Amino acid sequence: MPGGAVRAGRPHRSPPRVRDAQRDSRDWTDMTLLQVMAADNAAEVRVRTTDDAVIGAELAKYGVTYGHWPVLDDAAAIASDELLARYRDEVGELNADGRYKHIDIARIHPDDGNPEWPQIAKGAREKFLNEHRHAEDEVRFFAAGRGCFYLHLGEEVLATVCEAGDLLSVPAGTLHWFDMGTRPDFIAIRFFEEEDGWIGDFSGDRISESFPTLDELLIAP
Ligand SMILES: [Fe+2]
Repeated sequence: MPGGAVRAGRPHRSPPRVRDAQRDSRDWTDMTLLQVMAADNAAEVRVRTTDDAVIGAELAKYGVTYGHWPVLDDAAAIASDELLARYRDEVGELNADGRYKHIDIARIHPDDGNPEWPQIAKGAREKFLNEHRHAEDEVRFFAAGRGCFYLHLGEEVLATVCEAGDLLSVPAGTLHWFDMGTRPDFIAIRFFEEEDGWIGDFSGDRISESFPTLDELLIAP
């Protein structure tokens, strides 16, 4: 997932409201999705589910932290500083030991009126589309939109499509890649222990090219 400048598009205007995450009431395309595949054969799908309990259990097998925070109805309309303020309690609880010294927001929204948007989207997407790892946990809360973390854990790849309300922590050293799709649209709160914690150590393995993209995962039966 990108660090640095991932900011595109403008906030929309409408009054934000808070609601609890009512996961069962959402259309399935807004549901968190987990697809577990054999690492040496992406066509071998071992699990494909939107069942939150199953997703949590599968991720827990590998020590991956997964949780949910309330969703703001119109997060895209809220400026980043205000958004962080709205999540002060949740962020404070997560960071009770002060481990994360740098907490910020990455946001990207389609901006079709900007002729440079396609290139911005492509550049942002490609940044972490190849397998890499980080020296610290990669902790992200999706306040809006979606993105897919592919966790390469032993003999399996766990493609986890995160949606608004999802919190995911990729353990330090875990091989993974991130796909924000061909039309990136998300807001994520990022937590770093070090200012450069987002920098990836790329494995050089082209494994990600053999696996379905985020766009493909969403249209799969
Ligand atoms: Fe990463």
